[in-house]
Amino acid sequence: MCGIVGYIGNKQALPILVQGLRDLEYRGYDSSGLVILDPEQSRGGGIMQRVRAVGKIDNLVAKLKDAKYPGTLGIAHTRWATHGGVTEENAHPHIAQDGGIAIVHNGIIENYRELKEKLKKDGVKFTSDTDSEVLAHLIAHYYSTPPSIPPPQGEGKAGIRSHSSPLPGSPKSVTAFGVGLRGEDKGGGENQLANAVKSALKEVRGTYGLLVVHADHPDQIIAARLGSPLVIGVAAGEHYIASDVTPMLAYTKQVTFLDDGEVAEISRDNLRISNLKDELITKPTTQIDWDQAKAQKGGYEHFMLKEIMEQPTVFEDAIRGRINMEEGTAVLGGLNISEDQMRDLKRIVIISGGTAYYAGLVGKYAFERLAQIPCEVDFSSEFRYRDPICDKKTLVYAVSQSGETADTIMAVREAKRKGAHVRGIINVVGSTIAREIGAGSYIHAGPEMAVASTKAYTNMVALLLLNAIQLGRLKHVTQATGKRMLESLLAVPAKMNEILAQAEEIKKIAKKYTHYKNLFFLGRGVNYPVALEGSLKLKEISYIHSEGYAGGEMKHGPLALVSDDFPVVAILTRNQLYEKMKSNIMEARARGAKTLIIATEGDQEASEVADDIIFVPKTMELLEPLLNTIPLQLLAYYIAVELGRDVDRPRNLAKSVTVE
Ligand code: M6R
Repeated sequence: MCGIVGYIGNKQALPILVQGLRDLEYRGYDSSGLVILDPEQSRGGGIMQRVRAVGKIDNLVAKLKDAKYPGTLGIAHTRWATHGGVTEENAHPHIAQDGGIAIVHNGIIENYRELKEKLKKDGVKFTSDTDSEVLAHLIAHYYSTPPSIPPPQGEGKAGIRSHSSPLPGSPKSVTAFGVGLRGEDKGGGENQLANAVKSALKEVRGTYGLLVVHADHPDQIIAARLGSPLVIGVAAGEHYIASDVTPMLAYTKQVTFLDDGEVAEISRDNLRISNLKDELITKPTTQIDWDQAKAQKGGYEHFMLKEIMEQPTVFEDAIRGRINMEEGTAVLGGLNISEDQMRDLKRIVIISGGTAYYAGLVGKYAFERLAQIPCEVDFSSEFRYRDPICDKKTLVYAVSQSGETADTIMAVREAKRKGAHVRGIINVVGSTIAREIGAGSYIHAGPEMAVASTKAYTNMVALLLLNAIQLGRLKHVTQATGKRMLESLLAVPAKMNEILAQAEEIKKIAKKYTHYKNLFFLGRGVNYPVALEGSLKLKEISYIHSEGYAGGEMKHGPLALVSDDFPVVAILTRNQLYEKMKSNIMEARARGAKTLIIATEGDQEASEVADDIIFVPKTMELLEPLLNTIPLQLLAYYIAVELGRDVDRPRNLAKSVTVE
C-alpha cells in the first residue's frame, strides 16, 4: 500500500527509481511520481524535476521520455489513494509552495485539516486534496523560519556511520525559489533541512514513512518514520531507501531498518539517525538473505502462479531445522518464554487479517487438539478495539506475511500492553512486527509479490502446526504422536507436488466455472478455514462473488441461495467429518447446485456427489489444509486468468495494508 523509493549516490537516479517503483508495484497503487535533483545544476540555482502520472508506471515512464534526467539523487512514490481521488495533482511527490522542498509520504496525517487551515492563514495555497501535502508546506515553513534548536547531543560519536570518506563540504549558499538561505548539509542541530523536518513532525498526528529533499541540498535525503516502514540500503558511496527491501536487492543486501520516531539524514557517504529530540541513535545493519531472483517471475506468467508452484520448496524451508524427530517435537528458537510458562498457559489468541487470519483458524484446531489450550482467533482490526482479555497466562500469536499490517501492529501493542506473551509468525525479515515482538519464527516463504497470498499461507500453517506440536509435547501429546505428525509434515512437499502436477487438469475445470456470478465454498472442521481461504482467493483476483461457509451452517440460511446458477466447491476429504460433509453436499445438489469436489485420492464414493472432482493425497487430518488449499488457489488463479483479470495486482487491493 503506497511505495517509497529513494536514491542518493553517483549513478543516474532515474532508472533506479523507476525500477524501484516497479519492484514495489505488488503493494498496490493507482498513480506514481518522482522528483530528481540535478546536483550540478542545483548548485547553480536549483533544478528539481518532477513527473507524475495516474495509472500504471508505464504511464509515468511514457512522460519521462520528454526530458533528460541526469541527477543522482531522487525520490519516488506509488500512491494508493486514501485522501483525495486518483488524480495527477494528488500523486506524490508534493512540492511546497516555495518550490524548494519535495516530499513523498506513506501513511495518514490525522490532523491534516487543522494544519491545513493554519497554513492557509499563512497564505499557503494547496494544489491537492491529500493529507500528505501539508507535510511539504509545514516543513517549508520551518525551513524558512526555524525555531530555536537545542544543541545536538553526542555529535560525532554513535549513530554516524561513515562508509568511506566523510560528507563533502556543502556547496555555496544560493537562495532558490524565494526560500531562506541554504542550510549547511551537516548532521545534528546544524542541519537546517533535518531540523525543519523534525519541527514539522512534532506537530503531526498520524503515521508516516517520509522522504524529503530540497533543491538546495543536493547532497542529502531526509527520511522519517512513524508507523509506516522505511528501509535504508547501504553501499559504497550510495544509499537506497524504500518501503521494503525488494527495490534494493539488486544493489545491496546490507540494510538498516528505521524504527518509529527516527529521522535519518542520508548523504552519499553518511547516515545519521536521531529522534525528534535530536538524540543520536546507533543502528546495526542487517544482512538480507533474499536474492533478487526470488522476487522475479522466473518464467511464469504471473507471480501468483510462481508462488503457488514454489510451495513444496518453501514449505521445506519453513520446517527445516525445526524438527526433533527423536523427541517427537518441534524446535523453535527465540521464544522468550520458558517451558514452565508454556505449560502454565491458559489461553492462546491468534491475531491477523485476511489470509493470515484463515491460517490462524487452522492453528486454532491444532492448538486445541494438541495442546488442549482454548484458542481464539481474532481479526487484528477487531481485537485492538474490544478490550481483549489477555494476561501473562495468555500467549498471543501475531501472524502476518508482510509484518507491516497496521491493524496487526496495533493489536500486538495492545496485547503487550496487557502483559501477554507475544510471538510473531512472520515472513518479511526485519519487518515492524518482527522487530517489535522480538520473539517468534520467520516462515521463510521468501518474497511474496502477488497481492493474493498463497505460499505465505501454507508456511504460516506450517509454523502454527509446529508451535502446536511443541506446546502439545509439553502437555498431553505423546512422543509417538508427535513423531507421527512430524513424519507427516515431512511428507507434505511431495504430496503438494502431486497436486501441482494436476495444474492443467484444474485449469480445464476452472474454465467451466468462469461464467458464474456466485459460488459457495464449503468445508467442515479443519477444512472450514480452507473453504474461507478458497473463497477469498477467488473473490480477490477474479471479482466473482463467493461465500465461504461451514457445511453444517448451510441449512441455517444460506441454502436459500443455492440454485443451478450458484455452484458449490466443497472439500470432502476422508476425515472424521466425511459423512456429515457429504450430506451437506447432497443437500446442495438436491437444490440444483453443480458441485466441484476436493476429495482424497482413491475415494470413488466422492464422485457420486461431484460434477467435477480434484483428488488430493491423503494426510493427517490436521495437516489437510496444507494440501487442500492448493487446488483452490489454482482454481481461483485460472478463473481470474480466463477472465483477463490483473491477477497479481487486483483492483482496489494492496499487498501490504499499512493503513487502518
Ligand atoms: O501481510 P499480512 O499477512 O499481515 O496481510 C494480511 C492480509 O492483508 C492479506 O492476507 C490479504 O488478505 C491478502 N490479499 C490475501 O490474499
